[in-house]
Amino acid sequence: MASGIEDFKRLAAERAVEFVESGMVVGFGTGSTAVHATRAIGRMLRDGRLKDIIGIPTSEATAAEARKFDIPLTTLDSHPVVDVTIDGADEIDPALNLIKGLGGALLREKIVAWSTKRFIIVSDYRKRVTQLGTRAPVPVEVIPFARSPVTRYLESLGGRVVERVRDGATFITDEGNIILDCHFEGIDDPFGLAQSISVQPGVVEHGMFLGMASLAVVASPTGIDLLSRA
Ligand code: A5P
Repeated sequence: MASGIEDFKRLAAERAVEFVESGMVVGFGTGSTAVHATRAIGRMLRDGRLKDIIGIPTSEATAAEARKFDIPLTTLDSHPVVDVTIDGADEIDPALNLIKGLGGALLREKIVAWSTKRFIIVSDYRKRVTQLGTRAPVPVEVIPFARSPVTRYLESLGGRVVERVRDGATFITDEGNIILDCHFEGIDDPFGLAQSISVQPGVVEHGMFLGMASLAVVASPTGIDLLSRA
């Protein structure tokens, strides 16, 4: 029975792991929702419900969590095709376009998702939006050298740019970059904006995941919805 947001996160993740089968290469997402999937798969490997899973973690934090459960890990060099990835999101629109990256792992997450046959999002109901950019900023991962020109460029696109700080210091990603969070208060043309952001030198990646998710598993007080991309 679910009583709080943490329960909804866990329920969504535990439903999503039903799509994982023995022998699969699995992408392990990052964040407070995806961690429940990592733990559930770890438990299933331990009690024999799953066998021969090999995982690709999307962050150092996720790798550490997987190691706690002795989940074998690999890389995209050894396993370039991922059967299924389960990851969280910060916004999910009706077409299953996403904003991701408030946890700071958007670059590796997008690389793993792009290499994945079935990309499954797990979430509580609060992440569903009718329009991207209304609940979360778009995180943009940037090479530190390019901080100022990229900030000015993102502002010229209409964003209010806030450099991410954690514990009083500039947040540094697993790849050694900074993140500029861009608040747009509603994005009318996500594909156009994504293209505009990508062309700026110094931008490594942005947190819009467009046309990538095939399924979203969303838990709410009324139950668990499985939302498929049309
Ligand atoms: C990590 O970089 C993010 O993309 C997360 O997947 C996203 O922020 C969702 O995180 P939570 O499940 O913690 O809300």
